[in-house]
Amino acid sequence: MGVAGSPSVGKSTLSVLVAKRLGLPHLDVSKVAREAKAGGFDNQGMFVLNIRKARNAVRETLLKDRVRGYVVEGSFLWDLVPKSMLDLVVVLRCDPLILEKRYRRTGYSQQRIADNVVGELIGYVSAKCFEVYGEKCVEIDISGKDVSNAVEKILYAIESKRGEVVDWLASASSKKRLLKYLS
Ligand SMILES: Nc1ncnc2c1ncn2[C@@H]1O[C@H](COP(=O)(O)OP(=O)(O)OP(=O)(O)O)[C@@H](O)[C@H]1O
Ligand SMILES: [Mg+2]
Repeated sequence: MGVAGSPSVGKSTLSVLVAKRLGLPHLDVSKVAREAKAGGFDNQGMFVLNIRKARNAVRETLLKDRVRGYVVEGSFLWDLVPKSMLDLVVVLRCDPLILEKRYRRTGYSQQRIADNVVGELIGYVSAKCFEVYGEKCVEIDISGKDVSNAVEKILYAIESKRGEVVDWLASASSKKRLLKYLS
């Protein structure tokens, strides 16, 4: 199965624990790509993926575990793991204002905070995953859940293959702080 979501939503923290509970290996596609040297660092120190190379490296790694299964997660999952290699994709959603606080603490630039907050607000990752994985995709809201409660919610989504509708835009008009990002 796959786990996707906006930056810092908790993909790595939570999917390591989910994999443990399910007795499956855990793979972070970014790590696989880095280890395979599928890309390089730009002049700001950001890793830029070579998508074709990264896709091949991820595919090869996943094929090794294809019988047992795996929990694979990471940014750009939809670009790196084909639909045929996954039974289910869980997209983690979180209130953009909670993510905003997390990004501030991490020391992201104002521009990077805005890009990521707007991404979650409009459901960018979710839209990409639904486009690529279709009926294999569910999304769940883990806002305000601590790590263990979030893990339980993910396990329930896997078991039931059911998610929920998450739409931050629907309630954005009552949140001044969010509206600022849309103006
Ligand atoms: N449910 C949670 N509640 C509060 N903090 C959390 C929760 N899950 C993760 N965090 C914290 O948020 C930060 C980002 O978590 P993590 O690295 O797992 O996210 P990620 O989605 O893998 O990010 P990236 O896209 O950068 O790989 C970490 O400091 C982590 O401890
Ligand atoms: Mg991560």
